[in-house]
Amino acid sequence: MTGATITGWAAALPPTVVTNEDMTTLFETSDEWIVERSGIRTRRAASGPFVDPQPPTHPEGGFGTTASLATEAGRKALQHAGVDPADVDMLVLCTTTPDQLIPATSSATSAALGIGGGAMDINAACAGFTYGLVTATGLIGAGMRRVLLVGAETLTRATNWADRTNAFLFGDGAGAVVLEAVPGDGSLLGWDLGVDGTLVPLLYADHGSGMAMRGPEVFRQAVRATVASATASLERAKVASEDIALFVPHQANIRIMDAAASRLGIPSDRIVSVIDHTGNTSSASIPLALVEAAESGRLRAGDLILLAGFGAGMTWASAVWRWGNSR
Ligand SMILES: CC(C)(COP(=O)(O)OP(=O)(O)OC[C@H]1O[C@@H](n2cnc3c(N)ncnc32)[C@H](O)[C@@H]1OP(=O)(O)O)[C@@H](O)C(=O)NCCC(=O)NCCS
Repeated sequence: MTGATITGWAAALPPTVVTNEDMTTLFETSDEWIVERSGIRTRRAASGPFVDPQPPTHPEGGFGTTASLATEAGRKALQHAGVDPADVDMLVLCTTTPDQLIPATSSATSAALGIGGGAMDINAACAGFTYGLVTATGLIGAGMRRVLLVGAETLTRATNWADRTNAFLFGDGAGAVVLEAVPGDGSLLGWDLGVDGTLVPLLYADHGSGMAMRGPEVFRQAVRATVASATASLERAKVASEDIALFVPHQANIRIMDAAASRLGIPSDRIVSVIDHTGNTSSASIPLALVEAAESGRLRAGDLILLAGFGAGMTWASAVWRWGNSR
């Protein structure tokens, strides 16, 4: 039997930092209101009113595209794992902000990285990375040896900067992990993926228009879906919430993260939170949090981590993952 484990990881963020004070130049708001309602202090932007208007078109030309962020995170994660891009069987790029309608953003990313195998995008909005983790593990179960999994977003390209009810929430970035085949069960112990398509009107962006969101309703659904999905994953993994060393939720709003953790019985010191300096980066939010936890020494071999996210669609996804199974 073959399972999957994570052998390398990395993050990429565009250089422009946008503060809550910057938001006050766009609409009536305050640093105090944004911090209290969301926990966000700064976010990174690849485009929008605070970034010099020089959108690079080539993936290696800068951080103005989803592919460029994905390429940077993917390259560093492969180096960290010591894996040659030519030996990667599949690039799975999770994004809800693709660079073009056609083709998938993973195509340009694959070329920039020199990936030897296939490439595809997954769009499950903010639940994307965990959908991708389960998919990548399945590909390894089917016989692949190495999969590069990336969550990358340029949400600032889909932001309606005139809408004060949600423009302050979103940021850009990318996080990547390398998954490799290992003998035995591997690291994925339990998972749950789902969608309720009747909730599409709660959060969407049409071509050419910015994001539209019913914030308070999304908030309620988010807490409900995160808790229900995480509970299902814990049950499938046959572990209790007390066994979880770190909870890595989708970074949408600190109040959603805290409410979900509290209902799951996870103490606040076990929550990984990067939202104060990233904002909501959709598919990139869980890998950005995971990378920061790993790099700050919060993850030890054998630790059980619980990933849980929800997003437009509405999608949800969670997984119980054992950290640090070596090759
Ligand atoms: C967006 C969100 C932070 C708003 O917080 P909230 O506590 O629900 O706030 P409300 O929308 O009820 O608005 C409260 C008041 O603040 C006002 N307000 C809205 N945006 C504001 C802003 N940027 N600055 C100041 N006041 C603002 C509203 O107009 C409202 O005023 P009123 O009471 O006079 O009508 C919150 O609903 C949320 O995080 N929802 C989930 C969003 C999310 O996670 N989306 C991504 C899913 S992947």
